[in-house]
Amino acid sequence: MTPLQIGNATLFLGDCRAVMPELAAESIDMVWTDPPYGHNNADGDLLSRMDVVLRSARKTRATPIANDSPDSMREVVDGMLTQAARVLRADCCCCCCCGGGPRPTFAWLALRMDEKGLSFFHSVIWDKRNPGIGWRYRRQHEMVMVAHRAGGRLMWNEEVEAIPNVISATKPRDLYHPNEKPLRLMEQMIRAHTVPGQVVLDPFMGSGSTGVAAAKLGRRFVGIELDPVHFDTAVERMVNAHRQGALFDEPRMGAEQPSLFGEGE
Ligand SMILES: C[S@@+](CC[C@H](N)C(=O)[O-])C[C@H]1O[C@@H](n2cnc3c(N)ncnc32)[C@H](O)[C@@H]1O
Repeated sequence: MTPLQIGNATLFLGDCRAVMPELAAESIDMVWTDPPYGHNNADGDLLSRMDVVLRSARKTRATPIANDSPDSMREVVDGMLTQAARVLRADCCCCCCCGGGPRPTFAWLALRMDEKGLSFFHSVIWDKRNPGIGWRYRRQHEMVMVAHRAGGRLMWNEEVEAIPNVISATKPRDLYHPNEKPLRLMEQMIRAHTVPGQVVLDPFMGSGSTGVAAAKLGRRFVGIELDPVHFDTAVERMVNAHRQGALFDEPRMGAEQPSLFGEGE
């Protein structure tokens, strides 16, 4: 599979379960990813379902997400975790979002991390600052499960003393992707768990938000996305991010970098 190279970012169009085995063992410093949550967005998201319930004349465009049924989500996340435990270095960080709805996906994910060769460490709350639409408990947060490789240690950037485990960041207006994450969330976590020049992998890259955050911080990036429309958006965003490279701090980019691919690639 031939990736697209944009500056220090390597982008793959494909299924992460097929692409990750091509990456060399222990070639990645951090995984920060936001997989499908198993919410069945493929059947129409909350807004479009609300249109049906309210018999609204307005018809919100449904925003299907690949592998977003509860079963498919578990299958792709399991596959990703197995590979994450192989490609991550011993001292590393693996962050995986899992939503904040009524299903205890966070508990499932923490257990699966432990079963797949990682070691669950902590959870971080993304506080969206405003409650979402809905009734009774209106969702204002999502969770990010943080792990490292079993037998290794959590990689921590010595320059970052501590960060709160509630990160407040206004939800983006989803201009690039229906499940877009705010740059501030990834930036804080990438800064805490890597140093400039290290490699961040997002196997469910969507519109490339993690890649943009990594570029801003001078980290190398590997992104994988299955949907060609979202992949093209990520390419555009990464090109723009690297065009602004003079604004970003990439101190180690001249240094020799180890190959991301296994022997013979
Ligand atoms: C929750 S979205 C990520 C959104 C992203 N954080 C952003 O800010 O744009 C999950 C993405 O995973 C992609 N996806 C689903 N299954 C995949 C797979 N097996 N391999 C790679 N990408 C996949 C979907 O197409 C979707 O774009």
